[in-house]
Amino acid sequence: MSILDHHRKIETHATLLLVLSLLVVAIGGIVQIVPLFYLENTIEKVEGVRPYSPLELAGRDIYVREGCYVCHSLMIRPMRDEVERYGHYSLAAESMYDHPFQWGSKRTGPDLARVGGRYSDDWHVQHLRDPKSVVPESVMPPYAFLFGREASPRHVADRLRADRAVGVPYDEAMIAAARADFLAQADPGQDPGGLLERYPGAQARNFDGLPGTSEADALIAFLQVLGTMVDFSTFTPDPGR
Ligand code: HEC
Repeated sequence: MSILDHHRKIETHATLLLVLSLLVVAIGGIVQIVPLFYLENTIEKVEGVRPYSPLELAGRDIYVREGCYVCHSLMIRPMRDEVERYGHYSLAAESMYDHPFQWGSKRTGPDLARVGGRYSDDWHVQHLRDPKSVVPESVMPPYAFLFGREASPRHVADRLRADRAVGVPYDEAMIAAARADFLAQADPGQDPGGLLERYPGAQARNFDGLPGTSEADALIAFLQVLGTMVDFSTFTPDPGR
């Protein structure tokens, strides 16, 4: 009997075909899934990634609330065209403190995972108020109302606690200082020393150029930190992975 005859036997017996197909799929599934149970951690340790500061976290909540993820992703896929356009592909560690993550699947607008530092605060102010004034063909809606809404620190300590409950390493000192850190980050009249100690590399300044802390301050603080935590001039991927 040739191999083709064996195959005929399988192809003409629906039950046999079904059983053998399930067997093949099961083996494939096991090969993919079992190793994950034996890995301590699927996230490569990377220097520089820290939890969001209270104001950045508030900005992130506004990003989610306003549905920015409907048009933007926060994950650069490891493909050449993406990397050339947006920069180094995203590392798992860069979104390990995001709950829920904002990798996104819809890209009407560009990926924002490394937009931090690419534009000035003034550019973001102008762009959020009226996207078409900087990019005439833009279909992004204006978010001018964010400048007139105060960002309140009332619940920020609870917000940090909630993230801690799902594994973000906010410590007691961070939670105790959450309100002060929130207010210090966008107020040039305050000393950001404590904030910088708790959140190394946090940018403290008046993001929206207006007095007080607006929702725009929080959102721009979040946009400006995106992709800036890892120093890619010194980063080398772990060859074990
Ligand atoms: C309807 C889809 C849509 C929504 C919703 C949207 N955007 Fe955009 N966004 C775009 C498009 C299209 C562009 C590219 C043109 C431009 O720069 O305006 C863009 C560009 C941007 C840029 C510049 C990126 C770059 O690399 O040039 C930023 C920053 C940005 N959006 C932030 C936001 C934020 C924050 C929100 C939520 C408050 C948001 N967008 C909501 C469509 C959208």
